[in-house]
Amino acid sequence: VVGQIRTLQVIGIGVGDPQYLTVGAIAALNSTDVFFFIDKPNATGDLAQLRDQLCRQFIVDHPYRIVHADEVERDRGAQQYGAAVADWHERRAELYERLIRDELSADSVGALLVWGDPTLYDGTLRILDRVSARGVVEFEYSVIPGISSVQALTARHQVAMNRIGESVQITTGRRIAQRERIDNTFVMLDAEFVAAEIDDSDLDIYWGAYLGTAEEVLIAGPLGEVSETIRRTRTELRAKHGWIMDTYLLRRR
Ligand SMILES: C[S@@+](CC[C@H](N)C(=O)[O-])C[C@H]1O[C@@H](n2cnc3c(N)ncnc32)[C@H](O)[C@@H]1O
Repeated sequence: VVGQIRTLQVIGIGVGDPQYLTVGAIAALNSTDVFFFIDKPNATGDLAQLRDQLCRQFIVDHPYRIVHADEVERDRGAQQYGAAVADWHERRAELYERLIRDELSADSVGALLVWGDPTLYDGTLRILDRVSARGVVEFEYSVIPGISSVQALTARHQVAMNRIGESVQITTGRRIAQRERIDNTFVMLDAEFVAAEIDDSDLDIYWGAYLGTAEEVLIAGPLGEVSETIRRTRTELRAKHGWIMDTYLLRRR
């Protein structure tokens, strides 16, 4: 029907603290008819809890429905890595396509709530583009920015992301381990804290774990002096919570 197109909102909800939700995100929550909560089977953790809390706390007078679905798991034992990843992306696109087609009527608004900002190390937009490209369901989507872990980190440490005229880099633990050059570098997705292996007396580190949550921990100082403390703290926190999420900035002095 002309003029009736499904709409999806990809809403960044910030990293834990409800105060990180923007006014725009609150408006988007209040215009959503169907929320899609797509999680690993039996997921608990902060995202699942925060989503429920935000919906209850901020949606006034707008009826909505929540659709839960199990995320497609990657076949980690596959022989051919490239083929397995391609297959995984395709199966995720199929899942999202099915949900949009079956759960969202033509003139209604759906939403996906994404931890932090949806444009930083998150696969949601890539999947939606893939769904579009498949051409089976027609929909439009918008993106509502959220406070990312990088922004929460710098705000909590009260440091600017860049010094005057400098560039900023955001990268992963894996790439740091491959000896990527470091000047003003944010590191995410680093399960092992590879910075502990860097022997460079000119670097400072600003580290944060569970940013925006009640469990937040911050440590900063010359890398050589504090990296052992961070490593020990990570081990203790991981044992206590069963998992860890942390981010850090490495800065050349
Ligand atoms: C898949 S990425 C998602 C990033 C998210 N979209 C954002 O805007 O921050 C997950 C990584 O983000 C970082 N991260 C996310 N939330 C965090 C938090 N509350 N505290 C510290 N690091 C966090 C960690 O480096 C983690 O490995």
